[in-house]
Amino acid sequence: MRCQTYWLLWSCLVAGSLAAWQVTTEGMAKAVQAADEWTYLPLPSTDPWYSPPEGWEATEPGTLLRLRQHAYNTTPLAIANAVDTFQVLFRSTDSHQNATWGVTTVFMPAHQPCSNGTGAADTKNCTLRILSYQLPYDTSCLDASPSFGLQWGEPYGEMAAALKRGWWVAVPDYEGPLASYGANIIAGYITLDSIRAVLEASRRLEPPLSFTDTRVALWGYSNGASATEAAVEFAATYAPGLKNKIVGAAIGGVAPMAAMNAAQILAQTQVSGLLVQGIIGITSQYPKQREYVLSRLFPSGPYNATEFFWASYMSGWQSLLYYSYVNVFEYFIGGRADLETPEMVDMFAREGVLGGFGVPNMPVFLYQAVQDEMAPIQDSDNLVDWLCSQGARILYHRNHWGGHNDELTNGRQRALDYLGDVLDGSNVLSFPPTGCQTVNVTFMQDPSKPIV
Ligand SMILES: *[C@@H]1O[C@H](CO)[C@@H](O)[C@H](O)[C@H]1NC(C)=O
Ligand SMILES: *[C@@H]1O[C@H](CO)[C@@H](O)[C@H](O)[C@H]1NC(C)=O
Ligand SMILES: *[C@@H]1O[C@H](CO)[C@@H](O)[C@H](O)[C@H]1NC(C)=O
Ligand SMILES: *[C@@H]1O[C@H](CO)[C@@H](O)[C@H](O)[C@H]1NC(C)=O
Ligand SMILES: *[C@@H]1O[C@H](CO)[C@@H](O)[C@H](O)[C@H]1NC(C)=O
Repeated sequence: MRCQTYWLLWSCLVAGSLAAWQVTTEGMAKAVQAADEWTYLPLPSTDPWYSPPEGWEATEPGTLLRLRQHAYNTTPLAIANAVDTFQVLFRSTDSHQNATWGVTTVFMPAHQPCSNGTGAADTKNCTLRILSYQLPYDTSCLDASPSFGLQWGEPYGEMAAALKRGWWVAVPDYEGPLASYGANIIAGYITLDSIRAVLEASRRLEPPLSFTDTRVALWGYSNGASATEAAVEFAATYAPGLKNKIVGAAIGGVAPMAAMNAAQILAQTQVSGLLVQGIIGITSQYPKQREYVLSRLFPSGPYNATEFFWASYMSGWQSLLYYSYVNVFEYFIGGRADLETPEMVDMFAREGVLGGFGVPNMPVFLYQAVQDEMAPIQDSDNLVDWLCSQGARILYHRNHWGGHNDELTNGRQRALDYLGDVLDGSNVLSFPPTGCQTVNVTFMQDPSKPIV
């Protein structure tokens, strides 16, 4: 059984996020029309391209190991404003500092600001602007990774908006080759190595491009925010060479204490599936804890190990539907206490507590709904206080309107405007010249107004 990867791929939107559905449905309609005409990539778990070449472990993190130009064979691409794609496979680092690898898909815009009119960039005098866009794919199923699913469209329309601004959009499969959903350490490393590899690839494309300069910004919401936050915290120590390349990050709906709070916040809710996916995802990096979890799940009965691990064949969205309102502790012989042993708590704390990996060395725009039911605002307030006390530069918007899924929509235009400020040098969001600023806003995005 394989996870169904498109159609219900995208998650972390519970009821109420209709815009995303419309986009998905549109992309899907195109995909159905196209299905007979074009060749789609094989599933990541069966695609031989998803394996690093011999000797890869000895290379430096961020080393470009494989480059697949024109990766998606559809015309037009299911994502608006993109003219071509390429994929990179690169060396990265797992949660234990061991070698691993990652894959990123890059979408090139139909029109770059310095286009010479043919759609091709006049690269002689052009700054390459790259958005590293971390999608919340929320699954422990490798085959539901964005590098595969984006062939059928994007969930939120955000990529199309970024491409329209002339940016390359690089989407890393930041959960890595084991789909380690919830493991923030590997997610942060892969996100940074992805940027290094994409920059290297930009110099190796055929026909060659030669940009005079490059600027990179990051963006992520929900679990994509966790990956982004981990990346910006690790940046100074893990990827110092990116210091003057990464010009900013937009981070929304981040859950800095996710793994510690998860059991309490998520069990027996509409989003219980996230907890199941998280336990499977994080333990994919921790063999000892995985073995322990397996030993504590009921082997048979109404809530059993087999059913629990069905999540690893589901996309994030499918698992939200399947485990909705399930009491996840029922799968465990000792109930909730089985997740609270010292080894499990250590693992959750190590992976799931943000703020402890380092201090961002680039400006950060952080936005959060005060009523966020999945990521309590107090945790974000504390994260901001802590990072600012360590010298970070943060503009922090606390939105008094709406909850977690609302802020995905409500924060979108502000995030894009901020990214434009750092990538293009516009000045729409007024960022404090030094230090940090917290602003309470009451902002609801007019759903009839397209994002730009
Ligand atoms: C990491 O690599 C070391 C050897 O370099 C190995 O002993 C260890 O088992 C690895 N850890 C994991 C979790 O893969
Ligand atoms: C535009 O740029 C592309 C790529 O550099 C080049 O092949 C093409 O000849 C250029 N066209 C014009 C009109 O300058
Ligand atoms: C490059 O672009 C800048 C800004 O648009 C312009 O001022 C400059 O003259 C251009 N240089 C060349 C060599 O075309
Ligand atoms: C495990 O649970 C599933 C779903 O409820 C059920 O179909 C299956 O028979 C159960 N397996 C065992 C061994 O009890
Ligand atoms: C923002 O609102 C909170 C209440 O949610 C209040 O405690 C805080 O002082 C306000 N901060 C600013 C900067 O206005």
